[in-house]
Amino acid sequence: MEDNVVPAGPVARPGDAPAGDGTYSTAGTSETMRTDPLERLRTAAAAREAAGLRRALRPRTPTHDGLIDVASNDYLGLSRDPRLIEAAVAAVRRWGAGSTGSRLVTGSTRLHAELEERLAAFARAPRALVFSSGYLANLAAVATLGAGGLVVSDEGNHASIIDACRLSRARVAVTPHNDPAAVGKALAAREEEHAVVVTDAVFSVDGDLAPIAELHEVASRHGALLIVDEAHSLGVVGEDGRGAVHAAGLADAPDIVRTVTLSKSLGAQGGAVLGAPEIVDTLVDTGRAFIFDTGLAPASVASALAALDIVSGHPDLPGRARGNAVALARAVRERGLPTLEPAAAVVRVVLGPPDAALAAAAVFAEHGVRAGCFRPPSVPSGRSCLRLTARANLSSDDLAVIGRALTAVAEMKVSV
Ligand SMILES: Cc1ncc(COP(=O)(O)O)c(C=O)c1O
Repeated sequence: MEDNVVPAGPVARPGDAPAGDGTYSTAGTSETMRTDPLERLRTAAAAREAAGLRRALRPRTPTHDGLIDVASNDYLGLSRDPRLIEAAVAAVRRWGAGSTGSRLVTGSTRLHAELEERLAAFARAPRALVFSSGYLANLAAVATLGAGGLVVSDEGNHASIIDACRLSRARVAVTPHNDPAAVGKALAAREEEHAVVVTDAVFSVDGDLAPIAELHEVASRHGALLIVDEAHSLGVVGEDGRGAVHAAGLADAPDIVRTVTLSKSLGAQGGAVLGAPEIVDTLVDTGRAFIFDTGLAPASVASALAALDIVSGHPDLPGRARGNAVALARAVRERGLPTLEPAAAVVRVVLGPPDAALAAAAVFAEHGVRAGCFRPPSVPSGRSCLRLTARANLSSDDLAVIGRALTAVAEMKVSV
């Protein structure tokens, strides 16, 4: 009998005693055993505990809790900017707490339309379509545009892209990290009529930049669309923060689709797809993650608009975030810890096993610094790491404290 075939038999009733191994036996009979569904989950949780892979939700304090934050994605330090907060409050008073429905029914306000225009103008894209998260923007873009064809996806892509590939039901070719030649081979060998290539612009954990110009060249040559996720590059990459596609001189390429999140450098919440009118029309008509989701709340839309005002008026902000990232990476390297040259605000420090990353995060906390701690499944096995994010508003005192924490981690690493 195959393992997954459950033998027919009576169902355990409430009151039947669970056996110690998580199965139930019906009282006084030798009838069929069934697995206690929660026991199965407890067993799996115990295994994760033993492997150092349990996660805990730690509510943060509403304002400054005394810790230096290099864990959040608030790259420009805008999430608590009074202008974003006031814009959100005014939008709630005017439009209500929620958007009340799908974008196609009652969930679109004048604010949504304005944000779409402003995002497109900022990134120099033809059109934009706002989603309630960056995750859903990726689901819609990749699953809708890839459906029925070939999706070529970098092995380092974000989980939302991996999930979108699965949802697309397309054939998916996963290519080695940042390898345009491998992308070309996958495209050349395809039997499917259409194809999309998808990549993070700045990879979310390693912080390195995709070879966007080369990927675009290869995708164009093979008649494929290129989807670039600008979650970690919008507001940070390029002199004016217009993102990696713009910095590569490709903002007007009709066969590039960009996805963005409003929750990182823009300090708000939500996401968007940027691209040609044909792309936006297709997503409005057929993008399930767009159609069957409640529109982004007006407060978030208004905050994102206020953030765009600030970024446009302060072109120094992206450079400050990137400068602090370079300083962080230098501090990491000076202590003999491995890191890459950051392309944007993300600096990762690989420590290996999950316990080493947890211990390093604890050392940071002892020094008054909140650092991101990434373990499988967020990173491949054996590559647990600290993920440090630079903010435009990190001070030199903050950087000095982080330097001391890094020294302590480097000393600890010897004994791990
Ligand atoms: C590369 C990347 N894409 C997409 C997302 C999802 O964006 P959001 O948090 O707005 O859903 C994230 C968020 O962590 C990300 O890192």
